[in-house]
Amino acid sequence: MQGTEIILGIETSCDETSAAVVQGGRKILANVISSQVDLHAEYGGVVPELASRRHVELITPVVRAALREADLSFSDINAVAVTCGPGLVGALLVGLSYAKGVALARGLPLLGVHHTAAHIYANLLATPDLEPPFLSLVVSGGHTSLVLMRDHGAYELLGRTVDDAAGEALDKVARALGLGYPGGPAIEKLARSGDPEALQLPRAVVRDHPLDFSFSGVKTAVLNHLNRMRQRGEEVNKADVAASLQRAVVDALTERALAAARSTGSKKIALAGGVAANRELRTRLKEQAACKGIEVIVPPAILCTDNAAMVACAGYYYLKRGFTAPYTLNAVANLPL
Ligand code: KG4
Ligand code: ZN
Repeated sequence: MQGTEIILGIETSCDETSAAVVQGGRKILANVISSQVDLHAEYGGVVPELASRRHVELITPVVRAALREADLSFSDINAVAVTCGPGLVGALLVGLSYAKGVALARGLPLLGVHHTAAHIYANLLATPDLEPPFLSLVVSGGHTSLVLMRDHGAYELLGRTVDDAAGEALDKVARALGLGYPGGPAIEKLARSGDPEALQLPRAVVRDHPLDFSFSGVKTAVLNHLNRMRQRGEEVNKADVAASLQRAVVDALTERALAAARSTGSKKIALAGGVAANRELRTRLKEQAACKGIEVIVPPAILCTDNAAMVACAGYYYLKRGFTAPYTLNAVANLPL
């Protein structure tokens, strides 16, 4: 039976300062997300030091806003869950220090959550009856992984990117096209009016690791194309570039996800991470999976990008299983799953 414990979740691993209050693992009472997109936009990417400083300014008001929205106070909270890695270490430390402060002051259990795991848990918030085991494709600006979630807190990494993350490749090409940051949504929008077959882009395969991804080749091929066109003084058809890149990225993601489902016998694929907001990815994966009797689960876009509700959801299941962290918990930039 689902419990009623109330978890305060905190997420500051990159450029979103977020605090959430979740009851019984699945009921979101508040999910406040303060994005720093405007702060980093003029640099074309996240500037770590600026991100940390902004988190310091925002963490207290964001937590207060979440409690206010939930109509609760610190005394109603049963445990504090926080992202402890991977991510920008200075940014992670802000949320972690805050979480430790609350837990210590109130004598509450502290729950450390891996960022990739948190993204996977967004699916449990979106789909009330979803329980592990299931396969998850986690695609964000920092990660691209195929994970078999065997049980709560038990993950098997089946494949990962050996270089750029999918979102990173989209963001870098978007920057070169002058589309601003973050690039993924801009590429998606532009791709609607482009020809996905205009550019012949490579589809990289990682030798001996068929479930691994590599996106640096496709990114470099696009950047080389842009340079060549500029040198020749020819105009770039940005929509065609966006559509071709999106097609190449979505092809790689769908192909590996279905291969992983085949090799593990999974009948459910849960999409996670910021790139999971991409409609082309959602539609193509759903269509191709349906032919094989595989269900694709997709959280709403607001739960795909970084948010603290997914952290609190994971925290609830960790609390139930006694996976609490010591108050000495540290932030780890490259924390393995
Ligand atoms: O999960 P997330 O918010 O942060 C990380 O943990 O990285 O993901 C951010 C990434 C960025 O690369 C952004 O460009 C990408 O997700 N993204 C998208 C879309 N929305 C966000 N990529 C493609 N299509 C979208 N609609
Ligand atoms: Zn993320």
